[in-house]
Amino acid sequence: MGEDLVGLQAEFPAFTIWEEQMPGRVRYVARSRLGGINPHTVITADLDELRGALQPSRAAGQGGEHTVCATEPNIARMYTYWLQGKDHYAVDRAAASKILERFPEVAEVARANRAFVTRAVRYLADQGITQFLDIGSGLPARPNVHETARSVTPGARVVYVDLDPVVLAHARALLAVDKNVGVVAGDVRDPARFLRAVAGTGVIDSIRPTGVLLTSLLHFLTAAEADTAAAVLREWMAPGSYLVISAGTATGTDPELIRLLQDAYGDTAPVTGRTEKEIEAWFDGLILVDPGLVKVWAWRPETWRRPATTRARFLAGVGYKPSDTLPWSP
Ligand SMILES: C[S@@+](CC[C@H](N)C(=O)[O-])C[C@H]1O[C@@H](n2cnc3c(N)ncnc32)[C@H](O)[C@@H]1O
Repeated sequence: MGEDLVGLQAEFPAFTIWEEQMPGRVRYVARSRLGGINPHTVITADLDELRGALQPSRAAGQGGEHTVCATEPNIARMYTYWLQGKDHYAVDRAAASKILERFPEVAEVARANRAFVTRAVRYLADQGITQFLDIGSGLPARPNVHETARSVTPGARVVYVDLDPVVLAHARALLAVDKNVGVVAGDVRDPARFLRAVAGTGVIDSIRPTGVLLTSLLHFLTAAEADTAAAVLREWMAPGSYLVISAGTATGTDPELIRLLQDAYGDTAPVTGRTEKEIEAWFDGLILVDPGLVKVWAWRPETWRRPATTRARFLAGVGYKPSDTLPWSP
């Protein structure tokens, strides 16, 4: 057994860590000795990556039991690579770089999307929204939603929801800074269930207006799943709430890019290219605030410049749920 492996075993006593000989390669497996440690299992060919994946478990120390697989590309980690974040593995970098070789603008789109999230949250906070539900929240990316919201309204409340164990571990360790920030393990494909878990946090009061974020998420669902999720959330939102959506669209996007993304994510998630009209329907019954459903960098731009090439078309919009009389007293 190598010294590095022995060192890692000593560093993470809460885990059983061993080496497995595979045909032509070696892989390492770490499994927690206790329930409730997140991540529960990590599998990787690289000891440094194993150390990186186990680190959040120290600070997080709670949550469900999940498997972190560092041998398959992962949505949140590829996105963070394009955003120039640091929490990604070799397999994510390889898959993300392969897409950039053919479509370098994908990294610009990812950054434009993240800049849109910040502008939209600031806009909502300026409109008086004090509680936010960020679904498919991703790995921490400065500024995070609660940081942006609190730059306008100190004490703003945020619940982050994601299904990825790495995202949840980082969120519990880095984002849940006080009792007004919640982190929920939830799947947007089962909205009734995750909304019950959100209610259980006590952070968000569903009869008050909420800023609901579904950014860069719905294209990772089938058409039926995405339409249902958007409809359930529109219904759940109290009058006076806002729905923030961004998503890739098949309308105007090079079909080869959609195929490449489908190959990259494989069995992890579908990549569904919806038309612009289908995306607009996610806002049914809401009032689209100016400038409507537009390319992601064109939504109330500040300093963001339009990318030179636009073979990846990514749309963004913010819908308002109207109300004449609010059902709560301010
Ligand atoms: C590309 S990231 C977007 C992060 C962030 N919303 C943003 O726009 O910057 C997509 C996130 O959605 C999460 N996700 C994918 N499918 C999901 C599902 N069915 N339910 C909840 N989260 C999901 C992934 O784990 C990932 O963290």
